[in-house]
Amino acid sequence: MKLKLIALSLAAMATGVISASNEATIKLLPSEESPIIEKEIYGQFAEHLGTCIYGGLWVGPESDIPNTDGYRNDVLNALRELKIPVLRWPGGCFADEYHWMDGIGPRENRPRMVNNNWGGTVEDNSFGTHDFFNLCEILGCEPYLSGNVGSGTVEELAKWVEYITAEEGPMAKLRKENGREKPWKLKYLGVGNESWGCGGNFRPEYYADVYRRYQTYCRNFNGNKLYKIASGASDYDYNWTEVLMKNARNQMDGISLHYYTVLGWSGRKGSAIDFTPEDYYWTLGKCLEVKDVVKRHCDIMDKYDPKKRIGLLVDEWGTWWDEEPGTVSGHLYQQNTLRDAMVAALSLNTFHRFTDRVKMTNIAQIANVLQAMVLTKDDKMVLTPTYYLFKMYVPHQDAKLLPLNVATPMIRARDGRQVPVVDATASVKNGITTISLVNTDLNEQADITIDLSGVSAKKISGEILTADKINAYNDFTHPDDITLRPFTKGWKQSGGKLTVTLPAKSIVTLSLK
Ligand code: AHR
Repeated sequence: MKLKLIALSLAAMATGVISASNEATIKLLPSEESPIIEKEIYGQFAEHLGTCIYGGLWVGPESDIPNTDGYRNDVLNALRELKIPVLRWPGGCFADEYHWMDGIGPRENRPRMVNNNWGGTVEDNSFGTHDFFNLCEILGCEPYLSGNVGSGTVEELAKWVEYITAEEGPMAKLRKENGREKPWKLKYLGVGNESWGCGGNFRPEYYADVYRRYQTYCRNFNGNKLYKIASGASDYDYNWTEVLMKNARNQMDGISLHYYTVLGWSGRKGSAIDFTPEDYYWTLGKCLEVKDVVKRHCDIMDKYDPKKRIGLLVDEWGTWWDEEPGTVSGHLYQQNTLRDAMVAALSLNTFHRFTDRVKMTNIAQIANVLQAMVLTKDDKMVLTPTYYLFKMYVPHQDAKLLPLNVATPMIRARDGRQVPVVDATASVKNGITTISLVNTDLNEQADITIDLSGVSAKKISGEILTADKINAYNDFTHPDDITLRPFTKGWKQSGGKLTVTLPAKSIVTLSLK
């Protein structure tokens, strides 16, 4: 049973007035001072895990699957539409066991290794540094390297930076011998990953010192300027952020945070496609908890860095369900439904609100792993609901945040969590105002009145992501069960107000000119 309450969705507590219908109001609050939504908030993550790289992005130049220099054409074409700003690689946990020199030079000479974190699969290192940087060039995105601190050395990481970015010297010579004359640009460098866990099981005080040491030797060659990122906290580990900020803030440009929407109320992850309405609302509640988590980490950062020089990078986030039955254990292959798209929308809306501190986020992961954009099987590919959500949100990239207040009924979920029926975000770019609206209610439409506060809306167009069932998904035999569609009716404008009717369980983006 659900209880609806009228509340300001940004307020911590509901006011307790029971509402019979799904009526919500939104007031746009245009402000000259509001920050830009960094496009890096729409970052992606690709790990050597399961079929994310091998089979997902890369099939090799000899493959029968249509490819360009080894990269799958279908996947490249799909990903180009997302205007990916930054791609994190090679892990994840894999990064702290990865030795980059094993992935350069002639492929037939490259050593193999066991991918101990992810199913014990043998990694042949056929996708290495050159392949990653070339992929970033093809996609037009910034590379984000995760360096090996757990099982690597300072020298190894320092030389990787030199190999990639130096014009002259022994590492540059090696790179040239391997076919790349010009250095690449490298901005984002992560010094370790989950250093509190799979990245070395460090204590924060010790890691802070190790971080300071490693970053010292990662140099800026030939005008390349590194943005150095300390391996940050998991979820609710506020002490990690506190200790890192206290002891290493002057050596870092960013610190990471990982927050997954994982573990149902029973302590199990649960199926990606087979879930109850109660599971659904619980999931949205858990996802929305990221707001409090980010805020508490930001508060700690504010104490040490009031001018907000240091970015908080949520460089792993998304849903984490049970692996699909029949798939390889440890490969984290999961399906993706409209529920996942809801989680993506609510998460991105939240990150927008913290855009003065949250400078990058990377959904996990880009292909075939966790909350993926694309799923592949042999020569087939499907686009997930999360893919369509990211596509729908492209106009928010590098747009000016348009603050808003939402007054919405709330749905009480299991565990006392509260989920707003309506959530929203808005931004302005090149004279176009983009408003994204979410109706989380599984059964009822939402009637939303938007006070435009003088924002021009002479021409309106829209797109909608919805389906008959919340667990609708695309698979290789039914690839188009859920896709983006035009949203052509559903709104009315009069007297500076826009009224919008959102179908149950839907996400709409309106473009106002
Ligand atoms: O994204 C999957 C894994 O989740 C990553 O390798 C690790 O950093 C995190 O625990």
